[in-house]
Amino acid sequence: MKALVVGASGATGKLLVEQLLNMGQEVKVMVRPFSKIPDKWRNNDQVSIIQATISEISEEDMANYVKDCQAVASCLGHNITLKGIYGKPRKLVTDSVRLLCESILKNSPDKPVKFVLMNTTGNSNRDISEPVSFGQRVLMGLIRALLPPHPDNEKAADYLRLNIGQKNAFIEWVVVRPDTLIDHDKVTEYELHASPTRSALFNPGKTSRINVGNFMARLITESELWTKWKGQMPVIYNRQD
Ligand SMILES: NC(=O)c1ccc[n+]([C@@H]2O[C@H](COP(=O)([O-])OP(=O)(O)OC[C@H]3O[C@@H](n4cnc5c(N)ncnc54)[C@H](OP(=O)(O)O)[C@@H]3O)[C@@H](O)[C@H]2O)c1
Repeated sequence: MKALVVGASGATGKLLVEQLLNMGQEVKVMVRPFSKIPDKWRNNDQVSIIQATISEISEEDMANYVKDCQAVASCLGHNITLKGIYGKPRKLVTDSVRLLCESILKNSPDKPVKFVLMNTTGNSNRDISEPVSFGQRVLMGLIRALLPPHPDNEKAADYLRLNIGQKNAFIEWVVVRPDTLIDHDKVTEYELHASPTRSALFNPGKTSRINVGNFMARLITESELWTKWKGQMPVIYNRQD
């Protein structure tokens, strides 16, 4: 199995790539020319490095990059700087998901490509009923208006839900929703839920990035886990003792 990982230079992306490699997978990483990546990836036959800025890639080039990949994973997110939050590309994640999907569709692969998108518990799965309190709705409205990365995350998941949908012959998807991200050295036990079991704003849980990477890598490599969650937006929390 070969997977293309975008956002591979990020704090979670790196951990996803490492775990895919440990699981024996081949990985294509797409990183910006100045992104920092581990030196060991450069000397690893399992890794191909594409140095390119995703918002500048044509559909034709992307179709060539994804042609030999059975899975695509995105850990893209806006850098937490003024430029990252308010500068261009404003729809980094949505436009990248659209580009990747349109490129896969252009290739018409024999078997559906697995698409795993890192998202957030701040986003609801509007395919199912996920009750949100009045207070959270009001605050989310403000966040949506003031912080462009949030609607970008929402629209990226909407693209998979609404444009690709549940019965696409060429793409199957899972949107992974972690809560507040923290850093741990090792994978620990984690819980998976179809919907949030706590409020992302008023009672947030914690999710370590390495656990997000582990779940995303397992989705790509474990067919039973994929079948259980495909077309859904699982929420992942670290298990609390
Ligand atoms: N913070 C939280 O508590 C939280 C909770 C739930 C979900 N999330 C979501 O999870 C995402 C990933 O988290 P993280 O901590 O792993 O993020 P991160 O370390 O900031 O990684 C972001 C990745 O996106 C890439 N990127 C940023 N701007 C780009 C651009 N204009 N063009 C191409 N690539 C670009 C970065 O590349 P470079 O290395 O080149 O900059 C990096 O690979 C967040 O951004 C957020 O949407 C966050």
